[in-house]
Amino acid sequence: MNKIIHRDWQRKMMIQDNKIDVYKQQVGEVGASLVSSGMKVGLGSGSTAAWVVRALGRRWQEENLRFIGVPTSVETAQLAESFGIKLSTLGETPELDLDIDGADEVTYQDFHLIKGLGGALLREKIVRYASKQFIVVVDERKMVDRLGDHTPVPVEVAPFGWQVTAKHLEKIGASIEIRMKKGSSDFFITDGQNMILDCQFGQISDPCGLSKEINAIVGVMENGLFTYCTDEVLIAGQKGIQHLKK
Ligand code: A5P
Repeated sequence: MNKIIHRDWQRKMMIQDNKIDVYKQQVGEVGASLVSSGMKVGLGSGSTAAWVVRALGRRWQEENLRFIGVPTSVETAQLAESFGIKLSTLGETPELDLDIDGADEVTYQDFHLIKGLGGALLREKIVRYASKQFIVVVDERKMVDRLGDHTPVPVEVAPFGWQVTAKHLEKIGASIEIRMKKGSSDFFITDGQNMILDCQFGQISDPCGLSKEINAIVGVMENGLFTYCTDEVLIAGQKGIQHLKK
């Protein structure tokens, strides 16, 4: 039942794709405008965060903006490098001023998030916790009253014994879909060489509690619930860009 809701939602998203691409680009531009020269910046992953990187790339080339970027995925690193943006690692640059990233769901209250439909959640969470400030860029479809409405919680797990990890996740209420590579019968493998189990829990009333329960399972590397860690949300939609702050 939950899986069917997920697929319907994906179909609805595809129908709106054209308008949504414009929203993503608009919110990406506004996100990128918050970066100034000299900053150390976490660069998020996914299609909305990619617009932030493109806008930063334009500013790098046209406005001589100079900052240090720490990417949350190989894909983001490649995109940033294609503009000549200077990149670093958390080893070299462990403290960031600002991290800008997308999300799959955002609650109006408390700005709790589900992230990871793009598969970069572990690195995204590590980069977020290295940063003083976290700004999320989304289009209006991502805003919800409660998490779990439309998307599963992606859980990154070690490939070794993943079947056992999956059983433990089921015991705490997850209905699981194994993430596969698009159009392939191979498992999706993250940049950290792990697998992703997409876990439907239905509506999530206690995201902090659930996040702790998931991460207590051996074999789990990290889950896609980001709780009490978002400072600001930029939302693109019919009314233009809304900028919500805590
Ligand atoms: C990547 O792993 C994700 O956390 C993305 O930030 C999230 O899936 C949002 O992606 P889109 O901007 O492509 O919707």
